[in-house]
Amino acid sequence: MRETIRCAVMGLGRLGYWHADNLASKVKGAKLVCVADTVAVQAERTARELGLDRWTKDPESLFTDPDIDALVIATPTGTHAEMAIKAAEHGKHIFVEKPLTRHLEEADAVIEAIREHGVLCQVGFMRRFDPAYAEAKRRIAAGDIGKPVYFKAVSRDPVSPPAQFIKNSGGMFLDMAIHDYDAARFLMGAEACSVAAHGSVLVNEFMERLGDVDQSLTYLTFDSGAAGDIESSRIALYGYDIRAEVIGTEGTIVVGSLRHHDVKILTPKGGLHDIVPAFPERFRDAFQLEMQHYIDCLRSGERPAVTEEDGKAALEIAAAAQLAFETGSKVELSELRRRDTK
Ligand SMILES: NC(=O)c1ccc[n+]([C@@H]2O[C@H](COP(=O)([O-])OP(=O)(O)OC[C@H]3O[C@@H](n4cnc5c(N)ncnc54)[C@H](O)[C@@H]3O)[C@@H](O)[C@H]2O)c1
Repeated sequence: MRETIRCAVMGLGRLGYWHADNLASKVKGAKLVCVADTVAVQAERTARELGLDRWTKDPESLFTDPDIDALVIATPTGTHAEMAIKAAEHGKHIFVEKPLTRHLEEADAVIEAIREHGVLCQVGFMRRFDPAYAEAKRRIAAGDIGKPVYFKAVSRDPVSPPAQFIKNSGGMFLDMAIHDYDAARFLMGAEACSVAAHGSVLVNEFMERLGDVDQSLTYLTFDSGAAGDIESSRIALYGYDIRAEVIGTEGTIVVGSLRHHDVKILTPKGGLHDIVPAFPERFRDAFQLEMQHYIDCLRSGERPAVTEEDGKAALEIAAAAQLAFETGSKVELSELRRRDTK
């Protein structure tokens, strides 16, 4: 068992900052050595706020740094493949934000590099570590709702990220619905076999020009005979609304609620409660727990619970959903894999 894992975080935007903060002071067995962002001011400010004496605007320098055991990649999606492959080639363990890569061929190259160089990799599907999702999984596995036959998920963001982010995100199926594709595999204990998808631009007109949508629906069938639907939205002004439901042959399990604090205001006009505002508030514990799991695995040498293969499996569903949306036809995953290997 190794005492300490020396880490660096690359990309310090909406998410990278939280990973750096967790590694700096909240995750046992981790030492945050350096933070990196191509925008120097971002790296310098993060280092100052977290009390680190090292930061860099040259992420490349971290691959060859002998003081670093593990890299956390929270850079834009289009950079994940190159970063992960370089990390593996230099013997660094990898935590990579979702999605694993932007394209399926890149995912294969990442998996190959990880195998060849014998490093460990965890993908940032933090919902698996959220106490509510984890408890739902435990109860389903214990047989409390019988055989899972239907998965339903709602993921709604209050507003869209800016056009610059959307442009490089890979689109709603890859960037957003992918969390639910992974949650579906996790909770149903089954693999998706066909995907149908619809999408519309309802509010954010700039998405038309970027070929993206702000509302979508994915319909899945699973190899267990189960089915499911996933609604994704970037127009839920009221807050960050994340829910999932698994219907079983003997009961149903419902995950998530809108309420942020457990407080109600009652007046003669009626009752009010607040609403979860955004992802850092909803998944704060999950981000910390997923990072603790990653560090625990690196210390003991065990494979993380969410690997590069899980990253690829969710990516396949996202690629199938994108194709189904574009063609208007249902896509069989077996067919997508045949094309991928041609
Ligand atoms: N798990 C989740 O719920 C979740 C939530 C948000 C984002 N993400 C993922 O995290 C990744 C980053 O998203 P974000 O919202 O934090 O983006 P962001 O745009 O807020 O931040 C990205 C940061 O990376 C920096 N950067 C760009 N290229 C770089 C490079 N080559 N090396 C180092 N730094 C670089 C940018 O300057 C910026 O500070 C994306 O892949 C996204 O899909 C995951």
